[in-house]
Order: sequence, then structure tokens, then C-alpha cells
Amino acid sequence: MAAACVNNNNDALIVIVITLFLIITLPSSSMAGSNFNQQVDITWGDGRGKILNSGKILTLSLDRASGSGFQSKNEYLYDKIDMQIKLVPGNSAGTVTAYYLRSDGISWDEIDFEFLGNLSGDPYVVHTNVYTQGKGGKEQQFYLWFDPTANLHTYSILWNPAHIVFYIDGRPIREFKNLEGVGVSYPKNQPMKLYSSLWNADDWATRGGLVKTDWSQAPFTASFKNLKANA
Ligand SMILES: *[C@@H]1O[C@H](CO)[C@@H](O)[C@H](O)[C@H]1NC(C)=O
Repeated sequence: MAAACVNNNNDALIVIVITLFLIITLPSSSMAGSNFNQQVDITWGDGRGKILNSGKILTLSLDRASGSGFQSKNEYLYDKIDMQIKLVPGNSAGTVTAYYLRSDGISWDEIDFEFLGNLSGDPYVVHTNVYTQGKGGKEQQFYLWFDPTANLHTYSILWNPAHIVFYIDGRPIREFKNLEGVGVSYPKNQPMKLYSSLWNADDWATRGGLVKTDWSQAPFTASFKNLKANA
């Protein structure tokens, strides 16, 4: 087929044009995958959220007056989202870093990762949940097998018609299957944006709210890198 095409001058030109198009667009689209300036808006926190290094790094911080957060410019109906996150180090008790997909409106759908801070040396809890039409109640919690404050790690959400899978460093930690066939509702027709925030939740987060935020450690900061979203 290819040889036959090239016999014709017009077809040869098309082949060249397509090849050039692929050469030009492929690397740039994967580079665009990591520029926060193009991908997100910092939506609250009055300067506590920052995009640094020409869009390569994003930091959120929290102090006694406020937390901060951002959201994606695009919305997605089914996707795989990957983000590298380095969580608040040291005594992060009372703080929560949230990373989630959510649709608009009063009967919204949502897919959540929440990282509940802890006293130095005590483990973070990774909290996951799925909301359909405004109803959650599908929490599952995990401890991590590494210190999430020492380095960046990749946290991913895969959402397709068959299932939702939460991954950490490529390892699936939870699967939420589409069981609509047996009457369990499933997020399937409301596009979602990606959101992330760092906020104070010391009324419930750490040991059920027993350990309060130590404001003498503020500001608390979490870092983000390499957001990839494949719709
Ligand atoms: C904090 O550490 C305590 C003690 O190890 C543990 O019970 C708890 O699950 C940890 N995480 C949170 C968020 O409370």
C-alpha cells in the first residue's frame, strides 16, 4: 500500500506532510503535558498557590489564614490523570491535600484522593472515595509503603466506562467497577475537572480530629509536577 501511494506525487506529498505533522506535534504535545501555566488555574488562596519554573512546578501552601487550590482548565469525560505529588513534610497533622475529579452542579460526580497528614514519623492516610449524583459513602483508606514527603510520587486516576482505578506509582490500589448492571450507580455522563487543594481539616483528619494542626509549623507546603491528562 505505502509503495503504491508513493508512486503518485500527491500521495507522496501527503505522506511527507503527515510525517512532518507527527514529528512536530508529538514531542510538543507531550511537553505541553507538563506546563501548569497551560493546564490549570490557581483558584483560591490569595498567592498561597504558585506556579514556578516556567510551569514545571506548582506549590500549594496553607497557613492559619487560608489554604489554597487549583483546578484544570479542561474538563474530561473519561480519562487517565497522572500527577506527581510531594506531600507536606514534618508535622502535617490536621492538614489535608486533596486531588480529585469533580463535575459541576448539585448532583455532581466525584473521584477523590485525599492525603491526611500526621505527626512527624506517623503515617499519612490515603483516603479514596467515589461520588455519583452527589452521593459518596464509598470510602476506602490506605497506608502508604513509602514516605510520601521525601520525594515526588505519581498518583493516578483512570476513569473509563468499565471502571475507576486509583494507582500509586503505577500500582493499582483500588478498583471501583461499573456495577450498574446490578444497580450500583456509576459516574458516566458528567464531565469532570481536576481539582487540588491544601487545607486545614483538623476537626476530623488526623486520628479522627484528636490531633490538631500545629500552626507554629506553618506555612505547610505540598508540591506538584508533571500533570498528564489523557482524555
Ligand atoms: C496517624 O498515626 C496514627 C498512629 O500511628 C494512626 O493511627 C493514624 O491512622 C495515622 N493517620 C491519620 C491520618 O490519623
